[in-house]
Amino acid sequence: MSLAGVKTEGKSGKEKTWTVSDVLKWTTQYFNSNNISEARLDAEVLLSYVLDLERLKLYLEFDRVLKKEELNDYKSLIKRRLDFIPVAYLVGQKEFMGLGFFVNKHVLIPRPETELLAETVINKIKEGFPYSFKEKTEKVELVKESIPQIIDLGVGCGNIAVSIAKYVKKCKIYAIDVSQKCLEVAFHNSKTYKIEDKITFLLGSLFYSLEGYNLKGKIDFIVSNPPYVKTTEFDSLPLEVKQEPYIALNGGQDGMDFYHRIISQSLIYLKEEGYLILEIGDGQKEEIVDLMEKKGFCSIQVVRDYSGIERLILAQKCMFKGKRN
Ligand SMILES: C[S@@+](CC[C@H](N)C(=O)[O-])C[C@H]1O[C@@H](n2cnc3c(N)ncnc32)[C@H](O)[C@@H]1O
Repeated sequence: MSLAGVKTEGKSGKEKTWTVSDVLKWTTQYFNSNNISEARLDAEVLLSYVLDLERLKLYLEFDRVLKKEELNDYKSLIKRRLDFIPVAYLVGQKEFMGLGFFVNKHVLIPRPETELLAETVINKIKEGFPYSFKEKTEKVELVKESIPQIIDLGVGCGNIAVSIAKYVKKCKIYAIDVSQKCLEVAFHNSKTYKIEDKITFLLGSLFYSLEGYNLKGKIDFIVSNPPYVKTTEFDSLPLEVKQEPYIALNGGQDGMDFYHRIISQSLIYLKEEGYLILEIGDGQKEEIVDLMEKKGFCSIQVVRDYSGIERLILAQKCMFKGKRN
């Protein structure tokens, strides 16, 4: 009896019927013996995709017998999973910040630790940043609300930009990527959540496409989860990660290329007190903090992710002394 191979006969020689429970048990063992890391979870996600059922509802349908077509669809997914194609690409979906994002092989699959970056921006805006400002006309003094202006460098599938736009009432985001295919996916995801009006999608390398938008000195947040894998480490990445776009991963010889470029150019676009918030790789903190200090950033802060790894760096453009009242 085999599920991934062609044979599906029971001991009696008759075609075996497969229930949800049988299929999950068999696939979990099969994945385990083929070094697929999250065997049970992957088996469940793939089956819920084939049956168009929420994953947890599988548990209510353990005795459901799979139809022949369902079984065939499931078998072909199992085979592709054995080629180390990530489950998110197989089902075209990944959850981030409680939202479902369409993904394909052209975009990096959003990682749970990146939620820390999106949450940090959302929380700062909800706490009131950027602060309202006073504007004097001839007769009255008006308190004007600032609409946060944000640049997301390397938008990928749009996970960071779309989550911020979804959870923050008013904001304007410039979402940039060097890959047209990423921008198409990100735009699609922004439409899913009907927040496309809050985001301007721009094709180009880092800040280049912002020329002409008159944004210098006007940005409240520059955020990025840039490519930060060292070129020399690429060969030792897990096979699944190697299926993701090389340009989304490769951070140059020492993994630092993007940090140098982003840190030196951010000051041009940030407002005084505006934040630069970067996701970083394990062990990159010191070099990045050092770079930020040399460029004159203030209030540099490092935040650990839920695994205790230093994952996020926040820094502010210093305020021009004596200006605040
Ligand atoms: C690590 S991925 C991050 C994707 C997404 N923001 C996330 O957090 O999952 C980096 C992204 O940067 C993009 N990228 C690579 N080089 C770039 C460049 N020079 N300018 C802008 N984006 C670039 C890649 O296409 C990729 O989408």
